[in-house]
Amino acid sequence: MNFLEERIIKDGIVKEGNILKVDSFLNHQMDIGLFNEMGAEFARRFDGLPINKILTIEASGIGIACIVAEHFGNVPVVFAKKSQSVNLDGEMYMADVASFTHKNTNHVIVSKKFLDSSDHVLLIDDFLANGCALQGLISICDEAGATVEGIGIAVEKGFQPGGEKIRSMGYRLESLAIVESMDAKTGNIIFREQ
Ligand code: G4P
Repeated sequence: MNFLEERIIKDGIVKEGNILKVDSFLNHQMDIGLFNEMGAEFARRFDGLPINKILTIEASGIGIACIVAEHFGNVPVVFAKKSQSVNLDGEMYMADVASFTHKNTNHVIVSKKFLDSSDHVLLIDDFLANGCALQGLISICDEAGATVEGIGIAVEKGFQPGGEKIRSMGYRLESLAIVESMDAKTGNIIFREQ
């Protein structure tokens, strides 16, 4: 088991409805030492790629992305903003992101000032479940003409379709922990061997 899998076993809580709560260290209270380990591991896995920018999505991706950026030579971090309004002035890239968890659709926007065809992007997020958020970020990169060099995820829920969808599109997706199955009654969590 790697450091993140160990931490999930220690402090993660399995909730009914296939929800893994990791709010004591990942997406509410944040363990910066752990984020540093994650950054070092992503730097190892994406070594040699010409990454000059990190793109994430608010809210929970931001903290992780900022610490990861330090391991890629302090590249800038851009976060896509979620917006209910479609009041756009042509200066924004936009994608629609459906959330199964919240049962709504957000418009996700990034200013054209901060992403263009010269960018080689690493996408970072805390969770990968259905993959809607990532597909939105990928479509924004496509619109900008930016190159998606890789995708780094903390926790992938391997029993939901996002990971397979994104890998089958040909992207290099690295998830530090892939949950194969989990049981709210026993609290048992099984990870995919990587
Ligand atoms: P997706 O992120 O792969 O597109 O899947 P989905 O639409 O199902 O996820 C909606 C939101 O729920 C996402 O956060 C995602 O990170 C989060 N999520 C999905 N499964 C879990 C889980 O098992 N545990 C936890 N803690 N979160 C989960 P979001 O709504 O975009 O927002 P934010 O929290 O980053 O603001």
